[in-house]
Amino acid sequence: MTSRAEVFVRAPAKVNLSLKVGPPREDGYHDLATVFHAVSLFDDVRAVPADDFQVHVEGLDADAVPTDDSNLAVRAALALAEDAGVDAGVHLDITKGIPVAGGMAGGSADAAAALVACDALWGTRYPRARLAGLAARIGSDVPFALSGGTAIGTGRGEMLSPLLGSSDLHWVVGLADGQLSTPKVFRECDRLRSQQDVPHPEVSSALLEAMRDADPHRVGAELENDLQPAACSLMPSLEHALDAGRTAGALGSLVSGSGPTVVFLVADSEHGIEVGEAMERSGTVRAVSRCRGPVPGARVVEPVAHRG
Ligand code: C5P
Repeated sequence: MTSRAEVFVRAPAKVNLSLKVGPPREDGYHDLATVFHAVSLFDDVRAVPADDFQVHVEGLDADAVPTDDSNLAVRAALALAEDAGVDAGVHLDITKGIPVAGGMAGGSADAAAALVACDALWGTRYPRARLAGLAARIGSDVPFALSGGTAIGTGRGEMLSPLLGSSDLHWVVGLADGQLSTPKVFRECDRLRSQQDVPHPEVSSALLEAMRDADPHRVGAELENDLQPAACSLMPSLEHALDAGRTAGALGSLVSGSGPTVVFLVADSEHGIEVGEAMERSGTVRAVSRCRGPVPGARVVEPVAHRG
């Protein structure tokens, strides 16, 4: 059934422009209303045919990524093999460009990349909607890593409606020291809100209007993340990084997803250089990078693009 000798796939990180979190559900998840936005930080995956399933990870903080069957890319490959009745394995080489356990869905990007790579490698030729169904079983953010762009996410985050024609946004990304576990951040959010009546989550219409009008100043003012107080409670140094971004003149500052990566919206690439340099000087984060969005979801690329 194998139809290709090797396949290269690139998958993007995400930022949640708005992340509204409902009360805990009986299944342990939370209903979300979020605006996902895929940005130009990428993980690259090379897939080669094999008799078994193995993963090798290199790049920033690669040692923090599990390489057993709990690796999301391996789980994705196994799920496709089982679903399609493929009697083959795969070796996956992942090069991390997305912060590990940083709240930018790097593991989900790897899972989406593995689905696309194995689909091409094994010649299963699944329609995107069928891959998205498998993706949702692997993790709440995996369907978005497949689709990319900018999209409203509801349910656990796996139900997507694309926001077409939404504006280009430029970002400075600050990498905090340390990592945060997503389930712990959700639990801390529940703890902090235990005395409150938590409403059913809804995306703010002001943010959607600002996106439609391509007005980064208004988008910056509308950025919101219900998990931010929880991430800051577990890692108080994040407040310093957020303050440094505001002082540097960012249009908006935000903990990305469950953190601890912090992201700053800037007006354009020149403003990004300015804010990025100020963040480096602030000493509140261990690394700074710049990116823009929206970018496409996981897709097969030529080996040259993979290395570039
Ligand atoms: O879906 P995924 O495996 O990525 O979720 C990781 C964890 O994050 C879940 O086990 C859950 O604790 C938390 N989560 C949640 N509500 C969501 C998405 C994730 O509570 N909508």
